[in-house]
Amino acid sequence: MAASIFTAVPRAPPVAVFKLTADFREDGDARKVNLGVGAYRTDEGQPWVLPVVKKVEQMIANDNSLNHEYLPILGLPEFRANASRIALGDDSPAIKENRIGSVQSLGGTGALRIGAEFLRRWYNGNNNTATPVYISAPSWENHNSVFVDAGFKDIRTYHYWDAAKRGLDLQGLLDDMEKAPEFSIFILHACAHNPTGTDPTPDQWKQIAAVMKRRFLFPFFDSAYQGFASGSLDKDAWAVRYFVSEGFELFCAQSFSKNFGLYSECLAVSWPSSIIPRQMGLACWGVGRALPCHDVCDQWLTSLGLSTDERVGNLTVVGKDADNVQRVLSQMEKIVRTTWSNPPSQGARIVATTLSSPQLFAEWYVLPGLVGEGKPGEAVSLSARLGQMAPNQTGACPHALLPACCRKGNVKTMADRVLLMRSELRSRLESLGTPGTWNHITEQIGMFSFTGLNRKYKVAW
Ligand SMILES: Cc1ncc(COP(=O)(O)O)c(C=O)c1O
Repeated sequence: MAASIFTAVPRAPPVAVFKLTADFREDGDARKVNLGVGAYRTDEGQPWVLPVVKKVEQMIANDNSLNHEYLPILGLPEFRANASRIALGDDSPAIKENRIGSVQSLGGTGALRIGAEFLRRWYNGNNNTATPVYISAPSWENHNSVFVDAGFKDIRTYHYWDAAKRGLDLQGLLDDMEKAPEFSIFILHACAHNPTGTDPTPDQWKQIAAVMKRRFLFPFFDSAYQGFASGSLDKDAWAVRYFVSEGFELFCAQSFSKNFGLYSECLAVSWPSSIIPRQMGLACWGVGRALPCHDVCDQWLTSLGLSTDERVGNLTVVGKDADNVQRVLSQMEKIVRTTWSNPPSQGARIVATTLSSPQLFAEWYVLPGLVGEGKPGEAVSLSARLGQMAPNQTGACPHALLPACCRKGNVKTMADRVLLMRSELRSRLESLGTPGTWNHITEQIGMFSFTGLNRKYKVAW
């Protein structure tokens, strides 16, 4: 038999973080802990389907007005508008001036990839693969590959982590920006920097913005953890909104993987055939949507609390005026057309439905100062803050009046647990008298931590 035409294909190394997850699954040690992938886990170490997401999935499954027609190439309009609104804020001058646009994407990665492709084609000249792209050192490992695959040839790092100080190397970062060629692209983590958990303070962001403006550097924000980091959408989007208020044209890639717990697609693949209803045959075996009868599959999966096609992200474009943004979007449409052609609807519908309904929004995220953070006895106008949710409730802080799900939004539940894990880890290390200082564990934010431990340390069980 003739040799395979693929004989010369070299085996690529596995993606480290997913390899770790596979190794973790296979490890039989009951004491194992997975410190790899950035995905939320409950106290039981299990993934969490957000209650509000479950509810919206049921609403979608029962809504006979919905179908599986193609969406517009740039995505579901109500999803795009709401996604950009939470990134930029209700009072954003850019939204009011009609100079923003959005592209629905496959997760935050899709938003980064589409944005990178656009920049290579149309930014700083045509197809200018020599424009330097600066990525923090260290950074999420995929940033580099996404920009390399988009064709950029000059990927550089900028100083970020000061190992000795276990904090931000602000001076190194600013120096790199001062030295960067004009029009260089800088990838900035909007919040909960991956992997250090260290963010600039508002004052430091102001210094960063001042240099970037003076040096004509392009900010490309990556916002993968809005609301999930601090529990506050506003706090976690502070940097993006500040840059917009300073008049920057910018991109912001948003992921809804973490803050909605929408990491993946259909889960039916690995289930034993014995639990697949006979009449479904093989139609639901695999990614349901790719095979016939997908309406039935969707309903069946939804009844089991599962869904198809949920991964969703958004690329927000902020320009100088509506005309510029519309031309940019027309080119984005061309890029999407040859990339995934048309986006899936399920995740976008879940996010859009949640963000546009005051009641569902309150279940996902409780407005700061409304409940949870309100002091007992404090006057709060629920009707003013939540519209139709509770039209007659005004007066004393209404903690007790609200259903339990609304006292703490789902996002806050996740953010609080992550914060609690941080403080418990720190206090455990301190109570054990572990040499060194551990305050950085609670000063950092989000799912990731640079603990300061290295290969020199041996872990004793
Ligand atoms: C900084 C950062 N950007 C982007 C992403 C990708 O998000 P998504 O899974 O939505 O593609 C992640 C995911 O871990 C991340 O940490």
